[in-house]
Amino acid sequence: MKHFAELSFDDWDDKTNTRAEAETDFSLMLSRRSLLGGGVALGATAFLCGTGALIPSKAHATLMSNGTKFKAVAANSLDTITVPDGFAWQVVAQWGDPLFRNVPDFNHATRGTSASQAKAYGDNNDGMDLFEIDSAKVMVVNNEYTNRSVMFGNNKSGLPETVEDVNKGKMAHGVTIMEIAETNGAWGIKKDSRFNKRITPDTTISVVGPARGSALMKTADDPTGTVVLGTFNNCGNGRTAWGTYLACEENFNGYFSNLSDRDAPRTAEEKRYGINNEDRGYGWAKADKRFNLSTAPQEPNRHGWVTEINPATGEAKKLTALGRLKHENAEAVIARDGHVVVYLGDDERGDYLYKFVSDGIFSDGGDNSRLLHEGALFVAKFNDDGTGSWINLSAAGMAPDETVIFARLAADKLGATTMDRPEWVAANPFKAEAYVCLTNNKNRGKEGKKQPVNAVNPRVNNQYGQIVRWEPAGGNHSNPDFIWDVFVVAGNPDVHSDANAGSDNINSDNMFNSPDGLKFDKFGNLWILTDGKYSNKGDFAGMGNNQMLLGNTVTGEISRFLVGPKECEVTGITWSEDCKTMFVGIQHPGENGNSHFPGGPGTVPRSSIIAVTREDGGIIG
Ligand code: FEO
Ligand code: CA
Ligand code: CA
Repeated sequence: MKHFAELSFDDWDDKTNTRAEAETDFSLMLSRRSLLGGGVALGATAFLCGTGALIPSKAHATLMSNGTKFKAVAANSLDTITVPDGFAWQVVAQWGDPLFRNVPDFNHATRGTSASQAKAYGDNNDGMDLFEIDSAKVMVVNNEYTNRSVMFGNNKSGLPETVEDVNKGKMAHGVTIMEIAETNGAWGIKKDSRFNKRITPDTTISVVGPARGSALMKTADDPTGTVVLGTFNNCGNGRTAWGTYLACEENFNGYFSNLSDRDAPRTAEEKRYGINNEDRGYGWAKADKRFNLSTAPQEPNRHGWVTEINPATGEAKKLTALGRLKHENAEAVIARDGHVVVYLGDDERGDYLYKFVSDGIFSDGGDNSRLLHEGALFVAKFNDDGTGSWINLSAAGMAPDETVIFARLAADKLGATTMDRPEWVAANPFKAEAYVCLTNNKNRGKEGKKQPVNAVNPRVNNQYGQIVRWEPAGGNHSNPDFIWDVFVVAGNPDVHSDANAGSDNINSDNMFNSPDGLKFDKFGNLWILTDGKYSNKGDFAGMGNNQMLLGNTVTGEISRFLVGPKECEVTGITWSEDCKTMFVGIQHPGENGNSHFPGGPGTVPRSSIIAVTREDGGIIG
């Protein structure tokens, strides 16, 4: 058996998360499987694909919404970035780059120290947004996690061995705020900028919303339950209309362990959130007693939140009204009636899609700083006939603090639809509709997993993923009813002729697997970023490395725009205000030891932000 730390987050969660028995009617699951299993399920999907005359793209002169043309790039397995002819790329920032002049440059032999890392760009960049403040370009970016084999590859064991090692890994997590600048055509970090700062797992963060001061949030270190140290494992992100950044804590459970009793019983709530006596190998409990379940049993309740950050000051607060989940991103929109709606995916096999609706109304130019403090949290139910509804978690009958702290358990009681791992949600700036990446789910339709095949999750053992979209009733995102369809079912038409070939807008030239990142630009182009299998063999032959594609939400056309280096995930995307530079995140190149991106031979692979531009200096859009 693999040690816990060798498992992926998803496989590890499968071992630790015990689902509530009430979640799904088992008899219904069996009858659905017999009716809809395999190819019949694709029939349902094909019927629901609402893109009309989908254009099977050969994608040789793709037009973006605002007129930028590009020739789609071919899949490849190169250890570099590939962009279309007429475009250029360069590195902006790499893991370990110093934010200040008095911090040493990244050392490929030692890979830094806890002290240098605390004042340097963090590891494994994920969601990001660029803010222009007083004409400074301030990048806020999540540093989701670390790959032990890379960070501690200079230890014989390839693992953190000392308290110093553990602290170095810890300081590589969190959020980086840094001013970036272009000098003589070269982008880089502006060292010593007044904006530069790290938010780490040790930074003081206030708690707001229904869980503030809850008995469930109190610990020996914080008997008030109002001040949490740190944020970590932030995956996707969000941005509010009032200029704040939303960092979304995802696999927070993997950092806690019980140092004194590996067999201690864990509560149903802990099991549902994957809190286990063993961690995933980070060893934080050995360096910080907050992560030891035997001494701080309630510390896990203080993580798994969305954190709102002021990019100008670094002030941060945990928004408990948005629920405690394994958050992917937080897509905030102003609904037609003025309420702020935040769409939220809970990324685990069979977990749910949520939305928050603010009690207050957005005020253009007014004080919106408390809008995400209070509101209602809903979970999605997708019906097989293309309708759906948002169910208010208050219907679960739990106390307000428990409803948000144990949002998963509230949703379990309400007949929410188990989903194929909800990743990023993106809202169309020109139409009241939103899209979600359902990245993959090998448990779909599997005996004993309580995740029956249905129209929105149409394939048994879903290894390619799909993107689903919905329109709220009345064009109002705060409305509890919606209609939905499938924008794309990813697949491999060269290998399969059944449901695994994908939908009509997938072909040999644009196929991909595991859509994950998803964002609209201001022109209405939908950018799709992948975190999938990169073997380029078997079921994944012809797909190459992880990549970024452009989706046309009117025609359904999808075209590959960028291919990342070996063993990376492409995640995180944002733009300069003039739309002439697109910033894209390259996460964990060489996670299995086979990349030297971006430094080349002899260097340690480093997660990076790259800038993509047009060679003619025009806008990308
Ligand atoms: Fe950090 Fe669900 O990806
Ligand atoms: Ca992701
Ligand atoms: Ca993913």
